[in-house]
Amino acid sequence: MGEIKVGVIGVGSIGKVHLQAYQAVPDVKVVAVTDIVEERAKQVAESFGIPRYYTDYKEMLEKEDLDAVSICTPNYLHSPMTVDALKAGVNVLCEKPMAINAQEAQKMVDAAKATKKTLMVALCWRFSDEAKTIKEFVKQGYLGDIYYAKVGILRVSGIPGMGSWFTNKDKSGGGPLIDLAPHFLDLAMWFMNHPKPISVKGYTYAKFGPLDKRRGGWGIPEPGGKFDVEDLGCAIIGLENGATIFVEMSWASNIEKDTSYCTLLGDKGGAEMMPPKIFTEMAGKYVEIIPKVEKVNLYVEEIKHFIKCIQEGTEPIPKGEEGVIDMQIIDAIYESARTGKEVRF
Ligand SMILES: NC(=O)c1ccc[n+]([C@@H]2O[C@H](COP(=O)([O-])OP(=O)(O)OC[C@H]3O[C@@H](n4cnc5c(N)ncnc54)[C@H](O)[C@@H]3O)[C@@H](O)[C@H]2O)c1
Repeated sequence: MGEIKVGVIGVGSIGKVHLQAYQAVPDVKVVAVTDIVEERAKQVAESFGIPRYYTDYKEMLEKEDLDAVSICTPNYLHSPMTVDALKAGVNVLCEKPMAINAQEAQKMVDAAKATKKTLMVALCWRFSDEAKTIKEFVKQGYLGDIYYAKVGILRVSGIPGMGSWFTNKDKSGGGPLIDLAPHFLDLAMWFMNHPKPISVKGYTYAKFGPLDKRRGGWGIPEPGGKFDVEDLGCAIIGLENGATIFVEMSWASNIEKDTSYCTLLGDKGGAEMMPPKIFTEMAGKYVEIIPKVEKVNLYVEEIKHFIKCIQEGTEPIPKGEEGVIDMQIIDAIYESARTGKEVRF
């Protein structure tokens, strides 16, 4: 297979990160970008030396002879754009969250199956050396049976794009739960081999966003736009193998500093991911093992993997079906928070 020709749809914050990453990978050429804001599409195309730009992704799919696209648009567009691209015979790398709900995510998996094209969800943390190291310890049995996991990403002041699509439930699907859980909840599920969820009890709160407090650096704010999502969500998830995951995700909270953690408890050992540590018993002692990890560019590693999967016709490490399970859990957290009841699957 020769040079892989790529188009990037949506060149706001993360779209530009994808462009930089593609330009760092051999045998790939970004030939076009699309953004609904023409000025942005033009300016980004010029600054990255990309030959053509569009304001309509369907026109780009029709006119360009693309092997792949990155979809870096607001969440509600992920599913329809992915399905259109796959049907046009183009492989897709779609940003997280996979979609605004599990039903929309399932359409993406179905389209990938029907077209036999590659669908990869951009779960960049899976490509960190931290996550790969923990996965290897799990695979080699050092943790034994993992029966409990705790994951959290908590920010002091990090509401993205106040008033933009980020804080509009119809366009985002929700707040930090849908925005951040696809990173670390997905990792816990990956380490545990994506067991089926059987029960979810969730809670959501909006204490800062409605008062226009705690804006963060990410996203493009829109004055006058609405905030109808949570700014903190948490849940307890029961899995069919008897294990439990506790999850908490927040864009804004009264805590000392921004925090993220992924903790696994197994009957032979425990693990922390940030940074990686393993806790176990050896020679009659309780020990802490500190694996040495490399700092890598998550996005370059993710895109290298996507390109390799296309070239070799192999299935990506983040599987579409796993993304659907992650979305089913997130849907259930929102439903449980809304009804006040536990969701049983
Ligand atoms: N993996 C990560 O670390 C990470 C980080 C940030 C964002 N994201 C995800 O990436 C996606 C985009 O986030 P962002 O922060 O870049 O948002 P953003 O608002 O900065 O950029 C979105 C871009 O999409 C464009 N757009 C909107 N509608 C469009 C359409 N119909 N056709 C073409 N372009 C359109 C907008 O004009 C904008 O330029 C989200 O799903 C977000 O969750 C992932």
